Amino acid sequence: MKKFKDVDNIAEQIFNDKIGRPAYAFGLWLATLQAKELGIKKLNIFEFGVATGAGLINLCDICAIMTKSTDMQYDIYGFDSDIGMPALSSGYKDHPELWHEGQFLVDHDEIRKKLPENAQLISGNIADTIEPFCQEHLSNDAPVGFVAVDVDLYSSTLSVFELFKHNNPELYLPVTIMYLDDINDLLTNNSWCGEMLAVREWNDQNELRKMEEMRIRQNHSPAGWHDHIYGLHVLDHPVRNGKRPDVCLDINITAI
Ligand SMILES: C[S@@+](CC[C@H](N)C(=O)[O-])C[C@H]1O[C@@H](n2cnc3c(N)ncnc32)[C@H](O)[C@@H]1O
Repeated sequence: MKKFKDVDNIAEQIFNDKIGRPAYAFGLWLATLQAKELGIKKLNIFEFGVATGAGLINLCDICAIMTKSTDMQYDIYGFDSDIGMPALSSGYKDHPELWHEGQFLVDHDEIRKKLPENAQLISGNIADTIEPFCQEHLSNDAPVGFVAVDVDLYSSTLSVFELFKHNNPELYLPVTIMYLDDINDLLTNNSWCGEMLAVREWNDQNELRKMEEMRIRQNHSPAGWHDHIYGLHVLDHPVRNGKRPDVCLDINITAI
């Protein structure tokens, strides 16, 4: 397949802070580059934990920029509860020193008014909304490309990760790109609490789908967001088993 060319220098714009939320933009970019190599025309894109909608609207704006440059189409989904932060259910693992029930309560209809046609905000506890969503929307035609996880709690992150448990590997990209928000910026963040605990447990429990930080900082000026980009390596994907010899994913993430 002919290699996709970055004619609008999207990568350079991201690393020079010319596109808002570079972490989201870079994650989306890596997903888009893979989709182009695979011949995929549409991706499913997610923000879990929406609060005021600022991040979800950024994501929609970034998708519009990328569609213009690459012709890739995106369906964008935000998930949040309509009662603010749910009850914390896992003791110290949910960081009760940081978060409390009812925090971030926002009127979802106000957010919906600002969303473009290809975006939806799904209201309710993710524990209840994720599986019906998956049954209705997951599809080989629009694999899960980029997932921003900003739900703060360990217990909520477990619910988000239900998205990645479906048997069919082609519902995902060979590396579905993740942004993990709440992992290392605050004093009490650590690998035995919050989102990082959910990641550790995931890796212990799943042989063929592994989450790992993408070490992208090498050729770029340091930026805090570099440490938040993770890949879900879908090791059972046909591309990763030599079943798609037409696809070469030699995308150099440090030199992009
Ligand atoms: C820090 S805020 C998100 C901020 C947003 N991503 C941004 O950058 O503008 C965290 C959000 O996660 C939501 N949340 C946490 N656990 C949830 C759950 N189990 N179900 C639904 N929403 C949840 C909270 O309601 C809150 O709005």
